[in-house]
Amino acid sequence: VRLAVFASGSGSNFEAIVRAFQTDQINAEVALLVCDRPDAFVLKRAETLGVPSVAFRPKSFDSKEAYEQEVLDHLLGASIDLVVLAGYMRIVGNTLLKAYPNKLMNIHPSLLPRYPGKQGIVDAFEDGATQTGVTVHIVDEGIDTGPILAQETVAIEPDDTIESLERKIHAVEHELFPKVIQTYIKKLQKEHA
Ligand code: GRF
Repeated sequence: VRLAVFASGSGSNFEAIVRAFQTDQINAEVALLVCDRPDAFVLKRAETLGVPSVAFRPKSFDSKEAYEQEVLDHLLGASIDLVVLAGYMRIVGNTLLKAYPNKLMNIHPSLLPRYPGKQGIVDAFEDGATQTGVTVHIVDEGIDTGPILAQETVAIEPDDTIESLERKIHAVEHELFPKVIQTYIKKLQKEHA
């Protein structure tokens, strides 16, 4: 199985996934990083980790379809089977959804359906919630909807700050996401065996 990771920012989840796949005995590899911000730190991580990457400026395309078609050409060119969104701050459109049905997954920093959208951590914190968490789900046309594959709860303690909560959530993400991806790959491999 050849995996592509899409990311827009720091890429700590990307790095956790690559490292997990390097050490675990699974017949799969992170074969491509797709980035929609040419100045994102995740591109440096890919270079250090030896993962091929492509970076795009979506605004320089005539339409979302044209941008996604270009991305898709790269995915097909690299024989990508499965796409993982790890901090990809963009809504996936039909071009990619149709090409990878049930083969696109996302991580979101809340217990969905609570706190969808770009600010899942801040929204839970400012709402005064006593718990939040992390969700890994299959991507569909909605924003942070789609069938849930796994969730893990994170407590919000009275002395937590947004920063401390972010740290706790990221630590859970870095453990949970690689595991869920690998379980999903094993399921796909069984289906095709
Ligand atoms: C993560 O919290 C993820 O859940 C959200 O964006 C963040 C990405 O962080 N979708 P990083 O770039 O992996 O460090």
